[in-house]
Amino acid sequence: MFKKLTLSALAAVALTAGAANAAGDAGHVHDVDFSFEGPFGKYDQNQLQRGLKVYTEVCSSCHGLQYVPLRTLADEGGPHLPEDQVREYSTQFEVFDAELDDFREAKPADHFPASALEEAPDLSLMAKKRAAFHGPMGTGLNQLFRGIGGPEYIAGILTGYTGEEKEEAGTTFYENTAFPGGWIAMAPPLYGEDVDFDDGHSNDLHHEAEDLAAFLMWAAEPKMMARKQVGFTAVLLLSLLSVLLFLTNKKLWAPHKGKKTNV
Ligand code: HEC
Repeated sequence: MFKKLTLSALAAVALTAGAANAAGDAGHVHDVDFSFEGPFGKYDQNQLQRGLKVYTEVCSSCHGLQYVPLRTLADEGGPHLPEDQVREYSTQFEVFDAELDDFREAKPADHFPASALEEAPDLSLMAKKRAAFHGPMGTGLNQLFRGIGGPEYIAGILTGYTGEEKEEAGTTFYENTAFPGGWIAMAPPLYGEDVDFDDGHSNDLHHEAEDLAAFLMWAAEPKMMARKQVGFTAVLLLSLLSVLLFLTNKKLWAPHKGKKTNV
């Protein structure tokens, strides 16, 4: 009886696992060891600056970052550009000024512009909107240990083109192994050596994609390091409190415990 039960339970688990695999033409995404993962992870300032360069020179012609204020490029823990560079950087964008009723050069107080191409989604929150890792079997354990996989998904899209194309209803679709469904309407934006990095870092396709993905993770969650620090301090304080409570408890009951009652 017991054996039978175990067997059918095992079969059920195997079936669900199979179904979960079959259900997703969810695209395939590799894990990347980003510097900001793990409890002590930090953004790598140089990597963010390189990612910003890729975004500016390649992606910004179609995709916006409308929720990201330009001034945050100077933030410590972020790309940490000098203030004058941020001012200079801002001038390349045009924003609509309701007061002037006209477009003008952007200032650090403005946000990045919205997408220039309507079909191209805004990238401000993309790294948190997409999750590459689930499971196993809906438990979310993967997300806990490797992050939700948003930046991995973005890097996966940029490096996942197979070179196949097809045309449907006047739109060209490109085969992409990371994109759910397998066909994306974005032409491969990166080929490698698309930008030159000032710090002499490799600009092959994979490095460009990872740097860009790290930059978009920062854009979506600029305060990640502060959040981790608060969490860590809280755990430390709570541990200390537990020890104090334990000792207090012992002291409080000491007169009563182990005392021989002669009454
Ligand atoms: C020529 C315009 C163009 C450029 C340049 C471009 N994209 Fe796109 N991108 C698009 C369009 C259009 C879509 C929508 C595709 C779809 O939904 O099939 C898209 C979709 C995306 C998506 C969303 C995938 C999803 O899950 O919905 C990501 C991420 C992305 N692009 C990242 C980038 C990055 C990073 C760059 C720069 C390296 C870039 N794109 C450059 C046009 C562009």
